[in-house]
Formats: sequence, structure tokens, C-alpha cells
Amino acid sequence: MISWLLPGFLNLLKMFVADTYAHSVSHTNASPTRRAESAFNNLDRWYNVSTGTWDSTGWWNNANIITMVGNLARADPENDQLQLRARVIFALAFRRAPATNPQLIAPIIGNGSFALFKGTNYPVGNDRYSDAHTHEPHTLFPLDWHAITNRHLPNNPNDLPLAASSNPEPWLNGYYDDNLWWSLAWISAYDLTQQKHYLHLAQNIFLAMTNIWPTHCHSGGIYWSWERNYVNAITNELFFSTAAHLANRAHKKSEREYFFAWAERALEWFDRSGMINAQGTINDGLTEECVNNNGTVWSYNQGVILGGLVEMHRATAQTATGETYLSRATRIAHAALRQLSDADGVLHDPCEPNCGADGTQFKGVFMRGLQELQKVAPDEVFRDAIRRSAESVWWHNREDGVFSVNWAGPFIYPANASTHSSAMEALVADLAVG
Ligand SMILES: *[C@@H]1O[C@H](CO)[C@@H](O)[C@H](O)[C@H]1NC(C)=O
Ligand SMILES: *[C@@H]1O[C@H](CO)[C@@H](O)[C@H](O)[C@H]1NC(C)=O
Ligand SMILES: *[C@@H]1O[C@H](CO)[C@@H](O)[C@H](O)[C@H]1NC(C)=O
Ligand SMILES: *[C@@H]1O[C@H](CO)[C@@H](O)[C@H](O)[C@H]1NC(C)=O
Repeated sequence: MISWLLPGFLNLLKMFVADTYAHSVSHTNASPTRRAESAFNNLDRWYNVSTGTWDSTGWWNNANIITMVGNLARADPENDQLQLRARVIFALAFRRAPATNPQLIAPIIGNGSFALFKGTNYPVGNDRYSDAHTHEPHTLFPLDWHAITNRHLPNNPNDLPLAASSNPEPWLNGYYDDNLWWSLAWISAYDLTQQKHYLHLAQNIFLAMTNIWPTHCHSGGIYWSWERNYVNAITNELFFSTAAHLANRAHKKSEREYFFAWAERALEWFDRSGMINAQGTINDGLTEECVNNNGTVWSYNQGVILGGLVEMHRATAQTATGETYLSRATRIAHAALRQLSDADGVLHDPCEPNCGADGTQFKGVFMRGLQELQKVAPDEVFRDAIRRSAESVWWHNREDGVFSVNWAGPFIYPANASTHSSAMEALVADLAVG
């Protein structure tokens, strides 16, 4: 166990920060490794030890920062200090981050008789209340809700664990995409550490989300939120990608088949949903009548699916000619780069510079997906796009060691943990693909 070591770790971290990163890299033509390490060090400005998360940004953004930290640590295996810091960050978030879940679904009173996540009767009546002191909203749900999550298990393997330490409850809220971002975060932590409690948490969060399926659209999919009034791309891409990731990490055949079946079902539904447009990019979601709403083509909606398709490729070792998972991913990535890059090849979202609390995170998510694709299906266009964004972030969008929202620059004040961590994904991608 790591817990008794934590105070010591944190002191060590301070020393490492002082020793390892004391020299400024800001005015040198630093290597991709040094750039990413320096940026990681500066991310500490927002790190809050008491919550295990980064101040100045939101709940789902923090899940993405955790994912990015895992990717960085895998791309920079020689740096022992960084390896240690990543592990401490995971351990602290695992214990403390749920306190910052803004819309906690917690079994605080928990003797309601309605079915969690089933929707029609959620949330109604007195299932929600506001904390008398903090005014935070809380939601009640039945204590035996785990039983519900086994509803879809084909062979009902009792071995999908719900260890107390990997209890998904504190990680869930009524925005289903948030929950799945956290599942991917714990997969990233598992990939680095091979610690099973991270994988189990990721599995359990996903299992909870299977209860949202299906929507009123095309006999499948999951809703964006408990309000069940929007079927959007991001939530369904995350559902697909998480299932595909979990299939490749399952230890038992029955589990692998279970998660793979969900991934196939979710992808097949996504294809039928019409969210992919004639240009080959993905719009925001569906209308009430279940057709493509022509909503904004956000970068992250072009990115999450790439990671999922790469995992499907791994799961199947697909070699067939014709339309493979990788060729589909390649097509989407090309279409996205055509639509979202500027004349210098730097990635943008249409919201810049006023991207609010969410839009600041999007481009990093795309870079992460592109990096995953580039590793298995190298393409000069992708390599060039990663390099151009990383170079631009470093040279044109950096002030006092941190990055702001517009990767082409100039720096826009203020940066925060979202703008900085998102831009870091370009540096991490540049490092990871060599
Ligand atoms: C860390 O987060 C807590 C809880 O939100 C907050 O009260 C505290 O001020 C933060 N600490 C710092 C150093 O900002
Ligand atoms: C628990 O359920 C009972 C019966 O429905 C109800 O009377 C009681 O108020 C509930 N308790 C809480 C704390 O919600
Ligand atoms: C979306 O755009 C296409 C092509 O212009 C158009 O045919 C379709 O009706 C639009 N859909 C909506 C919901 O506006
Ligand atoms: C982070 O910074 C961006 C860009 O300045 C801003 O749009 C966003 O609202 C900030 N996020 C938060 C949570 O304040």
C-alpha cells in the first residue's frame, strides 16, 4: 500500500521539482521530452493535494488530465521522478477526487425505490436534495443498485468485481459523458501501473453506464444526461471507446467477450445513427427526430472515436482488406485535420478564444486520439499535424511556462489547468510518436 508513504512522497516531490526542473527550458530549443516535463512541472501550479485534482477546471476536465498524465508517463519511462509523481497523482485522485464530483450520486440515504439510471422515473419526487450547508445537489438511489448493473451480462460472470475500493458510486453523476471520461482515466492509470483496482473501477463505471442503453433513437445508444433529451456524439463515442479499451484489458475470456460485444454493438449503432456527415467528420449529435443535427464539428468528437477504433484493431488483429477499423480511423482523422487545421497546420476549435470551461479541453482529446492512431497506422500527414501543433503551442502560445486556449497564439490571459493540460496533449503526442 502506498498510503502511509504519501506525506513523504509529497515532500520528495517538492524536492524533485526544485532539483530536476530548476533550470529554465523556456528560452531554449528544448527536446520534446524536456518540453513535456517542463509543462508537467508547471501543471503543479493548479494541483490541489487536498482534492487530488487540479483547481481552476472542472470535474470531467480533471479526468482528462489524469489520462494525459498516464500517457506522458508512458512516453517518458526513463524519468523516475515523473514516474513516481504520476503514481502519487493517481493514488491521491483515487482517494480524494470524488469529493469534487459536482453532482454526486451517493447512497447517502439511499432507500428510494426507483431504479437508478432507468430514466423514466429519474429524477422525480424526492430523490434529489440539496445539502443544507453546501447547497450541493445530491441524488438518492437504491443501495442494491449494483445488482442492476449486471442486467446485461450475457453469461453473468460473477467475476466482474465490485471491490469496495473500486466502488463506482462516488465517481458517477447524471452527465454520462463525465462518468466515461473517468473510466478512461482509470484505464490510463492502469496501463501505467498495472494496478487492478484502477481497472476494476473503470469496469464498474462502464457497467453502470450500460444501464442507460438504449435511447429512443435507432434502438440503441446512450443519452448525454439524466434528462434523456439529447443523444450526442461524445457520450456514445466514449461508451464505444471505453468498451473497446476494456475488452483489450480484461483478464478472463468471458469478460473480454462481454466488453467486446458492447464495443461492436455501440460502433454499429454509431454508424447507423447518422452522426458522421458527408465530409467524413462527426457532428455534435442527433435531433429529437434522431437525425444528424448538423451541430458543431468539435475536435474532441473526431478524437475519441480514433482511440476506440485503434483498440478494436488490437482486439481483432484485423488484417482483412477493404474497410478496416484502421482505415476508417484514418479517413476520419484526415477529414478532421482538413476541417480544423489553419493554414499553418495548427489545430483549432470553432469556439476560440471563448471556449468556456469545456471547449478548452477538446483539442487535447483529438491529439491523444491522433497519437494512438499514428502509433499503429503511421501517416506523414498525422505526424506533421502533431508536430505543427506541438511546435506552435511551445513557441507561440506559452507565457511564464503555461499554455492558453489558442494553440496558434498569441497567449490569451489567463491560462488554467484546462488550457494548459489540453495543449500538453500536443507535446505528449509529439514525444510519444517520436
Ligand atoms: C483545494 O481545494 C479545496 C476544496 O475545494 C479548497 O478549499 C482549497 O482552497 C484548495 N486549496 C488551495 C491551495 O487552493
Ligand atoms: C426511507 O423510506 C421510507 C419509506 O418509503 C420513508 O418513509 C423515509 O422517509 C425514507 N428515509 C429517507 C431518509 O429518505
Ligand atoms: C443538415 O444539413 C443537411 C445538408 O445541408 C440537410 O440536408 C439537413 O436537412 C440538415 N439537417 C438539419 C437537422 O438541419
Ligand atoms: C479556463 O480558461 C479559459 C480561457 O481563458 C476560459 O474560457 C475558461 O472559462 C477557464 N475555465 C474555468 C473553469 O474558469
